[in-house]
Amino acid sequence: MAAGFIPQEIIDEIVARSDIVDVISEHLLLKKTGRNYQGLCPFHHEKTPSFVVSPDKQIFRCFGCGVGGNIFSFIMQSEGLTFPEAVEKMAQKAGISLPQQEMSENELKVLQKRERWYKINELTAQYYHKVLLDTKWGQKALGYLKNRGIDLHIIEKFQLGAVLSDWDGLINFMGKKGVEPRELHQMGLALPRNSEKGYYDRFRGRLMFPIWDHSGRVIAFGGRVLDDGEPKYLNSPDTPLFNKGQYLYGLHLAKGSIRQADLAIMVEGYMDVIACHQFGVTNAVASLGTALTSNQARALMRHTYQVAIAYDADVAGSNAALRGLDILADLGCQVRVVKFPKGMDPDDFLRKSGKEKFEELVMQGESFIEYKLFKAMENVNTSSIEGKIKVIQSILPDLAKIDSPVAKESAVKIIAIKLGLAEASIMDELRKYFREKQKFPQNKDRKQEKRENNIVNLRGFNKIQVQMLRILFEDNSIFPLLENAGGVELFTPPLDNVFQRIWKVYQVKGKVTGTDLDDKDSQLLAAILIGDFEITNTTKAAADYIKNLQINKLNKDYSDTIRELSEAEKMGDSEKLNQLLSRIEWLIQQKKLLAP
Ligand code: GTP
Ligand code: MN
Repeated sequence: MAAGFIPQEIIDEIVARSDIVDVISEHLLLKKTGRNYQGLCPFHHEKTPSFVVSPDKQIFRCFGCGVGGNIFSFIMQSEGLTFPEAVEKMAQKAGISLPQQEMSENELKVLQKRERWYKINELTAQYYHKVLLDTKWGQKALGYLKNRGIDLHIIEKFQLGAVLSDWDGLINFMGKKGVEPRELHQMGLALPRNSEKGYYDRFRGRLMFPIWDHSGRVIAFGGRVLDDGEPKYLNSPDTPLFNKGQYLYGLHLAKGSIRQADLAIMVEGYMDVIACHQFGVTNAVASLGTALTSNQARALMRHTYQVAIAYDADVAGSNAALRGLDILADLGCQVRVVKFPKGMDPDDFLRKSGKEKFEELVMQGESFIEYKLFKAMENVNTSSIEGKIKVIQSILPDLAKIDSPVAKESAVKIIAIKLGLAEASIMDELRKYFREKQKFPQNKDRKQEKRENNIVNLRGFNKIQVQMLRILFEDNSIFPLLENAGGVELFTPPLDNVFQRIWKVYQVKGKVTGTDLDDKDSQLLAAILIGDFEITNTTKAAADYIKNLQINKLNKDYSDTIRELSEAEKMGDSEKLNQLLSRIEWLIQQKKLLAP
């Protein structure tokens, strides 16, 4: 492993304290399948998981696109870092300080500033919360919440607050804590006055909702009027800490339940999330009015692949649901769209019908294709042939996206029934669509091409050598046995070099895992080591394979010697001739010994 300036002991320490499953889990959802873990590959678009992580070997590999490697290669590839940068990042996570890691004065300042910003937001949330509980205006806001069925325990859980109608309540409070209005302005909590010098509070006379990042730090706020005033909600602007399309409201509170239920319920508003929790539906998050972004979708997909979109039953809600559906389905999620009675949102429905009916409705949500079909059939007269054609044409691209043959067949059935067509003719249209698409293949992006160049193709490798390496990784104690039997001599390029390197690691450490390999070896070995093979009795298997390798080696030596022999004959070099003849004699003996 060539880390340049980073001492090997430190790399070893990082490796000892890191686990490839933990690290990769931060980027995608992994599910245990036997000894390995599986998930959707983050390096290419796919809907059925072909990305495999082996905790034993500390290696990952995607069978779809072929990328693979160790923990360091994963960080390098997923975050576009160099090796030293990846090591640095992992060191930080593992709580190991790198000796040359002196932070520059500038970096330190930025870090301290961020910490202060989080602190300001936390103090603000505390201030609003106190206003809710301890002031006359707060009593009014509490009454409003009570009216909407929200109790104290949920108010605490969501750190709900209120803000007075004065223009400087927050500014004054924070002033006493040593926070300048200028800093509040930076955090979107105060605005500069137009006419005179100074600042005023951005939020006034509202019920306040803190917004958290996914680890639960307050980064922004939303404020609701208590009456019919406009705007209904006022939200923080984007700030150095907050970016709207990045976060899902309530994810830090919901993620445990989402994993447990293996389902996330995506709602539109703050109040919907809160109502869900009030009624014991704790796997709900909100996309906050804006259209769901793929960043938000990915954040959710670290916890589940199944999402029920439960948006308001109005035009805006159903259009937003459609966009969310596409984003989630494209990322490989199984999506359902929950349909509420006209004019209702999850909050209304829960209050009217309760948790059980709500969960029933979620379960009855329409599948991706049903919902697409429902949208495609809106405002189209499907009793006419033209209407049917129109609907089919608009649904084909969605149908084509379904990878699983079973899911595709059932989707075709649904369409056939709804449109009164034969399944066969829909399949014909689909085939035609694929043919047309093939005539105009989409350009691969350059990143994808670069990745493809890195893909290791195992076909060219010697199968027995590949199998031998698998056995070695399965059972490191076989190393000495193999070394005694000939070691590197038994391998041919490029696997001889790989063996040479892992043998060296074994001699030093007494064991080898993926983390001991440099980037190129780890890619190659990931391709070799993770796959559909099973080795049960490693000692016996090793004996067989070693013998095979020795025979191969003898065969190769034999044919090499024969070639040399005919050359020596041509040259009339009798001394050499005799030497070679006795060598051939010896090789034949050896072969007889091995394979009598
Ligand atoms: P209630 O009306 O109190 O039940 O709120 P809700 O959570 O159901 O909100 P609604 O469905 O009206 O809107 C969904 C989300 O869109 C809200 O939670 C806000 O994040 C956002 N939103 C709604 N109205 C406004 C607005 O006037 N301005 C802004 N910036 N955002 C809004
Ligand atoms: Mn509502």
